[in-house]
This record gives sequence, structure tokens and C-alpha cells, in this order.
Amino acid sequence: MSGELSGRVAIVTGGASGIGAASAALLSGAGAIVIVADLEEPTDGAWRFVQHDVTSEESWKALLSDVLAREGRLDVLVNNAGISGGPGSIESTDTELWQKVQAVNSEGVFLGCRTAIQGMKQAGPAKPQPGGSIVNISSVAGLQAGAGGLAYTASKGAVRLLTKSVALYCAEKKYGIRCNSVHPGGVDTPIFDGLYQLVGRESGKALLDARHPIGRMAEPSELAEVVLWLASDRSSFVTGAEITADGGLTTGLMRRQPFVAS
Ligand SMILES: NC(=O)c1ccc[n+]([C@@H]2O[C@H](COP(=O)([O-])OP(=O)(O)OC[C@H]3O[C@@H](n4cnc5c(N)ncnc54)[C@H](O)[C@@H]3O)[C@@H](O)[C@H]2O)c1
Repeated sequence: MSGELSGRVAIVTGGASGIGAASAALLSGAGAIVIVADLEEPTDGAWRFVQHDVTSEESWKALLSDVLAREGRLDVLVNNAGISGGPGSIESTDTELWQKVQAVNSEGVFLGCRTAIQGMKQAGPAKPQPGGSIVNISSVAGLQAGAGGLAYTASKGAVRLLTKSVALYCAEKKYGIRCNSVHPGGVDTPIFDGLYQLVGRESGKALLDARHPIGRMAEPSELAEVVLWLASDRSSFVTGAEITADGGLTTGLMRRQPFVAS
């Protein structure tokens, strides 16, 4: 709905690419002032860019100070920045990769939630009522594990329960802050560049499309719609929820059965 976020201020981490860029576009289209916080500068977009590393506590402090000084309020944080952890299993994942993936995908979300609560619980001249919405981008890998992708799956599983704890804490404190996680299936973004380099874009994408009962991966804009809904007051009774948007990937056994029911 156009204008539903008018006057609100939203930070999107990892907003220079993929799901984050699509979310920044939709939030901005709904009237929010959007700050894209990323290591990399976006190549397009009408929103403000702040160079930011989600793994750094100092970087989070500077980002919040900057946003409160310039906009006077914070209403929405989309903890979206993330990296792939590769295919490694428990025996083949080295400690350095494990720590890097947890630092970005899991600790980055912890730091983001803690920082955002500080900003959102404050009322002031620009924001008479405290409150806000935190949207944490997990994954279907945060709901189900495989033998490979160990570091990524562990990092995304942590985001799922961290989200619920944050939601309950904010509810108990009556901060008016909601916190939910989103669990996408495959989304066609540069996160798969490594895979495409190995097997080629066409066969890599065909492989990923076929894993989804719906027969295809998602476009980033399809996940951005979920983010927008969670950011808006239309989801006002939703907190601590895990919203799956995965083309049916985690719904049942369909793709694992050797036959299709008639
Ligand atoms: N694409 C998928 O299939 C898929 C599926 C499930 C979950 N996800 C999750 O969605 C989120 C977005 O992924 P995407 O597919 O859009 O990826 P992407 O690679 O297109 O974008 C990720 C963005 O995060 C930024 N980033 C990485 N490390 C950062 C850091 N330390 N600090 C700040 N920014 C950093 C990158 O610069 C990039 O702009 C990630 O958390 C990812 O794990 C993606």
C-alpha cells in the first residue's frame, strides 16, 4: 500500500544486492526513508548509503548515531546481510570459515537486534510513540539441515531462535517492538555466483529451480513483499514468527519421492 510507511525510517543491511536491494526498493516505495547499510555501495537506488560492516560493534554504534542524528528516529531494521558458507560438512569445514560465517550471518543479527532496540525504544520529537519492527532474514537452512552447508545452516538456525527470544523480550518489556524471521528458499541473487562459476549459470539455476515444488526459484522482489508486510502495521499482531517463503521446499516430501501422485 503506497504511503503506509510514510515518515518511518528503515535500515536494510546488505541492501546493495539481491533480497536487500529489492526490500530497500519496496520499503522506499511505501514511503519509508531507507538507509542501505552494506560493505559495498549500491549501483542504483534513491536511498541513502552508509558503509557498514554487520560484524563490527563499532560500525553498528556509528550507524545508529548517524541515523538518529539525521532522521531522529528508527522504525524498521532488516537484518539481511549474509554470506554463503559453501558446501562443507562437519569434517571438511575449517574453523576460519565457520567463524566468518557465524560472524556475518549470526553475530551480525545479534548486534543488529541489540542496536536497533536501543534506537526503536526511544521516543522523541520526531517519534512520539516508541516501537518498531525487526525483520531477520534466515533461510530454509535455518529450519532443516543437510549433511553439507554446515556453517551456513548453523548460522541460520541461530537466527531463528535468536529472533524468538528478542520478540519475547521486547513483548515483556512492552517496547512495542516486533521481531520476526523470514526463511526463503532459493532466490535468484548473486549469493549463488560461486555455484554458477563451478557448474555454469544455466545448469546451476536449473538445479536450484528443480528443488522447489513450485518449479522455480524466487525473484528477490517476492521476498521483499514479505519483508514489507512484516515491516508494516499490517502485521501488527505478528511477533516471534518464522515466515517461510520457499515455493513449498520445506512443506513435505514431494521432491524426495520417486513418483508423482496422480
Ligand atoms: N538467495 C537465496 O537463495 C537465499 C536463500 C535463503 C536466505 N538467503 C539470505 O538472504 C540474505 C540476502 O542474500 P542475497 O541472496 O540477497 O545475497 P547477495 O549476495 O545478493 O547480497 C548480500 C549482501 O550482503 C552484503 N554483505 C555481506 N557481508 C556483509 C557485512 N559483513 N556487512 C554488511 N553487508 C554485508 C553484501 O555486500 C551484499 O550486498 C542473506 O542473509 C542470505 O543468507 C538468501
